[in-house]
Amino acid sequence: MKKLIIANWKMNLGFKMSLSLAKAIKDLRTNNAVVVCPSAFALPAAKEILQGSQVKLGAQDCSGAANGAHTGQISAASLKEIGCAYVILGHSEQRAMGETCRQVNLKITAALRAGLTPIICVGETWPKHQAGQSQSFVGGQIRRALTGVKLGQQALIVAYEPLWAIGSGKSAKPEEAGKIQAFIKQAVRQALGRPQASVAVLYGGSVDAKNAAGFLKQAAIEGLLVGGASLRAQEFKKIANIK
Ligand code: PGA
Repeated sequence: MKKLIIANWKMNLGFKMSLSLAKAIKDLRTNNAVVVCPSAFALPAAKEILQGSQVKLGAQDCSGAANGAHTGQISAASLKEIGCAYVILGHSEQRAMGETCRQVNLKITAALRAGLTPIICVGETWPKHQAGQSQSFVGGQIRRALTGVKLGQQALIVAYEPLWAIGSGKSAKPEEAGKIQAFIKQAVRQALGRPQASVAVLYGGSVDAKNAAGFLKQAAIEGLLVGGASLRAQEFKKIANIK
């Protein structure tokens, strides 16, 4: 089955290195759908490099406001204008700096209004995981993120990224992740009040070329959000090529 493989380059690369990596992956040919999310300053140049490639472009964040006096923010409409199709929202690294569910909610609304597909990140901490509270915690994040969101015919992506698995080298067990992902899909559709809403649920957290196939084998895991391993062109290509 066709999966969605998304690269989150975070703030790891400068301008020149972002463009080198875009060049190194632009010839990717795979049955999966592929998206890369460079830093905002590299988006227009990466767009040019990826012209004609099957690799689509996403941003790592956007403002919850449509436009106006918001110093340092980037609007969803301007991301759309420069060729982005996706935007990562509510990443745990943003939440750790104080981003609230309400802000994530506003960003989702702004992204959808601009015609971007939001990639909404959710995930629980290790203590919550150990206490068996993963579903209740993630369910709450989803409800708050989607309050009042009107989806129309658009699609929504949710990335389940347990906090203890991000950048730690300690990924979740595929079967366990598969179970919570099935729950997430239900929770999203319920929150939207749309049982048929087009929702893809991805896994993220210490994905690499060795463990990616195990996740993609799970029917409930419809793709991957890859951080560290997406910075290595050959490794990312291997992940994107998994059938
Ligand atoms: P990681 O990051 O693959 O380096 O764990 C994933 C993410 O934070 O999106």
